[in-house]
Order: sequence, then structure tokens, then C-alpha cells
Amino acid sequence: MKDIYKAFGQNRVLTGVSFELHEGEVHALMGENGAGKSTLMNLLTGLHKLDSGTIKINGRETYFSGPKEAEQQGIAFIHQELNIWPDMTVLENLFIGRELSSKLGFLNSKKMKALANEQFEKLGVSISLEKEAGLCSVGQQQMIEIAKALMTDAKVIIMDEPTAALTDREINKLFAVIESLKKNGVSIVYISHRMEEIFAICDRITVMRDGKTVDTKNISDTDFHEVVKKMVGRELTERYPERNPKPGRTVLEVRGATKKGLFENISFHVRTGEIVGVSGLMGAGRTEIMRAIFGLDPLDAGSILIGGKKAVIKTPSDAVQKGIGLITENRKDEGLVLDASIRENIALPNLASFSPKGWIDHKSEQQFVDLLIKRLMIKTDSPETPVGSLSGGNQQKAVIAKWIGIGPKVLILDEPTRGVDVGAKREIYQLMNELTDRGVAILMVSSELPEILGMSDRVLVIREGSLSGELSRQDATQERIMTLATGGL
Ligand SMILES: Nc1ncnc2c1ncn2[C@@H]1O[C@H](COP(=O)(O)OP(=O)(O)OP(=O)(O)O)[C@@H](O)[C@H]1O
Ligand SMILES: [Mg+2]
Repeated sequence: MKDIYKAFGQNRVLTGVSFELHEGEVHALMGENGAGKSTLMNLLTGLHKLDSGTIKINGRETYFSGPKEAEQQGIAFIHQELNIWPDMTVLENLFIGRELSSKLGFLNSKKMKALANEQFEKLGVSISLEKEAGLCSVGQQQMIEIAKALMTDAKVIIMDEPTAALTDREINKLFAVIESLKKNGVSIVYISHRMEEIFAICDRITVMRDGKTVDTKNISDTDFHEVVKKMVGRELTERYPERNPKPGRTVLEVRGATKKGLFENISFHVRTGEIVGVSGLMGAGRTEIMRAIFGLDPLDAGSILIGGKKAVIKTPSDAVQKGIGLITENRKDEGLVLDASIRENIALPNLASFSPKGWIDHKSEQQFVDLLIKRLMIKTDSPETPVGSLSGGNQQKAVIAKWIGIGPKVLILDEPTRGVDVGAKREIYQLMNELTDRGVAILMVSSELPEILGMSDRVLVIREGSLSGELSRQDATQERIMTLATGGL
């Protein structure tokens, strides 16, 4: 791809990008949220039309009419935003638009099942093919997307943040698959904000900033600091801001929380001004516990106490009323109204505070929204932009802005920095610090161990639906957490 330009209306997104992918290489594409990474790949696969520039495949100028054609020509795309059809089965999702038929035109489900199982085995996935895809966890949905792309026999696979919802075990499986694809001459574009992964599996790296390519290098010729500096255009000091917690009294207490088949007898508490990290493997039940506290799936047994008093939380609005906020890992389904503007999304749960007299005070609404956009560095021209057209990471920032505005007593963050770039991550951590300084209690579920270690005052480890241990900030190490999470010795 050479000298690529692309604007959406007034928004000039790509202004001179060049990118070269070699046969059998894993090529990292890095850059801040909104730098234009996904857009560049959307141009390659024909989802959008470029304004100018050339795309050559095997030396020949090639422009696809759309993703379907790109796929037929051997370019598969694992998208950042999952494209799962929730009402269909896992199997149907895997073969959507590419169903295999027998000679007589009937669906050949036996063959599809065999192929699907084979792929799942390679990826170490155990999900029933008959399961309704919408009932799968985000991590499982991600694995379905990966399996789907791998089944197309592609020559080029674009992976746009494939591991954002996966934990270490799944990531290692994926990496093994990537290694073997590479050996077979398959080329991979690997987009991720996780620096550790880039250095673990990529051969070369291209850094983008503000719609331009900054540099391409062999991974062995660069390091973490250089990459970050090129991405953000300045030196970034520490990854995690210092924490000086002053925990107060207990605000939230969970006693013997049980949900059959998901988790059992979970008890813990969170104090004001404290960040409690919740670690564990994918599927351990962390998200399910948080959903229950927030009233999305009420408990079978056990109780929740707020400020020492038993609280009846049957619906999310009960939870909000009691001062609990939840930022979900799945922004597409639960976090945002994609067609609505950034302003509307942020202001929505806060309307009461702008309408003290019964009508909306538009000026204070505007100020409030502008402040949060600025604070979280949401990259946009206008608060009136539909949230759905923001880049993935900027959508995540919008979810956070929305809840921070409410000023909750307890804020539950489920994978808060998923898909967020290093600079903005730090900004989110700083916000967490400010919130706890103001006395907010934070429960943070995260699959990134460095984040758990960097931000938590205490760490709870969940394993197979049970609380397998609690570690103080001083005692928490990667090894200890992993041991508790896996049940290893
Ligand atoms: N369909 C669209 N309509 C309007 N603007 C768009 C559209 N798609 C992308 N943009 C804009 O293009 C810019 C680059 O977005 P892009 O999604 O390519 O960023 P990214 O580098 O993938 O970021 P992230 O790391 O957050 O995923 C953003 O400012 C975004 O708002
Ligand atoms: Mg993107």
C-alpha cells in the first residue's frame, strides 16, 4: 500500500500511509487510538474506497470491491469489533455466507461440523457447536471469529486486536497457530496495543501516528521505549501512576454469592478509596460475578451489602440507584448506543443532573460533555459525532466517560483498558486514582497481569467459579496470581 489518503467528510484520517507486507511474516501495526490502523485495513479489503494511493498484491494493482471479494482472493480479516450473530449457533456463525452444500444443494452439516471441530481443536477451544453464539462469553466469541478466519485458507490474515478478550492460555494457543501459519507462508498483519505480544511474535513493526506512517523496523532492531515514543510523539515516563491509597470504611460487601453453574460462595468486600483487582482465567466467572452485583443476572443465593445494609439489587437500575456503576467488557452490546452521538451517550445516564428544574440545561450538559471528552482525550471533531464512527479505543473511552459522569460510590470496571493505547491507558489509570482519592471504591476485572499488579491495592483471584485467594499489593506477583488462577503448585 503506497501513499494512501482517506478522508471521511472533513475528517482527514489517512494522509500518506505506506505499508508493505512480506510473505510469511507477522507484521505489527501499531499506533494510538484513532491513528488509522483499522481504516487502513478496511481500505485494503475494500470496505471503504481510498481517495488516492496504490495497492499492489503480488506486484499487481488490485482493488477489491468489498470484504467478500478480498476473502475470496485470500485475505481474511478478524475484526476488532466482533461480528457475531447472537441468535445463530456457533456453527452457523462459523460458516455464515460460506455454507457447504452437498451435490443436491442440501447443507452439508456433517462436513461443516468436522471442519469446525478440527479448527477448534487446533485452537484448543471447547465450545459446543450447537450453542447459541450470543450466550458465549466475549472471549469465546473472539475465538469463534479467529476460527472463522482461519478456515478460509487465507494467504493474508489481518488480526485487529485478536487477543483483547483472551487470557494467557488462549493467547498462547493463538500464538502457536500463528507460528505454524507463518511456516506455511501465510502473512499476518497484527494490530495490538499490547506491547509484550508485539515483541513476542512479530517480525517487523510499522508505527502510525495521526494518519501517517512514522517508521517500519525489524522487531529485533527496536525496543519498547522507542516504539512508544514513535507512537505518541513524546517520551512517556511510567506506565502506571503511583498509588497512595487511603482506604476507609467498607462500602460494598458480597457474602456467599452463588449462581448455579457459574460461581459459588463468593465473599469479599471493597472499601472507599480502594482499588480491588479481580484476576483469573477466561471463563473463571469474574464477569458473571460483576454482572450479578450490578443486577444483570440476579444471585441464586448470598447477599450484597451497601454501606453495611442489605441491598436488594434485581435490575441494573436498582444498582445505579444504590450508587453502583458498571463498565462492561463488551461495549458493543452493553456499553454504548452506537447510532447516538458522543454527547448523547455521555449525557444519557446523567440527565437528572442537567435538569434540576425538569428541563435539560443544555449549556451545562455541553460543558460537562466537553470536559469529559477533553479529559479522556477522545479523538473527535465534535461531540455530535455518532459514537459508532469512533475508533475502537475511543469508543471505550466514551463508555468510561459516561459512567464517571455519574459519580458512583462503587465503580466496577470490567477490562477497562481493552483496546486502549498506552497514552490513554495512563490517563484512565490517573482517572482511577482521582476517583479513589474522592472516595470511590473500584473493582477492576482485568486479564492483563501487569495492569492488575500496577493498579490494585488488593487482588482477588477467581478460579472455576470460586475465590481461590486474596493477595495484598505487597504480596501480589505474576507467579502467585497465576498459581492461584490455575490451581498449579
Ligand atoms: N466509517 C467512518 N466514518 C467516519 N469516521 C471514521 C469512520 N471510520 C473511522 N473513522 C475515523 O477515522 C479515524 C481513525 O480510526 P481507526 O478506527 O482507523 O483508528 P485505529 O487506529 O484503528 O484506532 P484504535 O486503536 O482505537 O482501534 C478516527 O478518527 C475515526 O473516528
Ligand atoms: Mg482500530
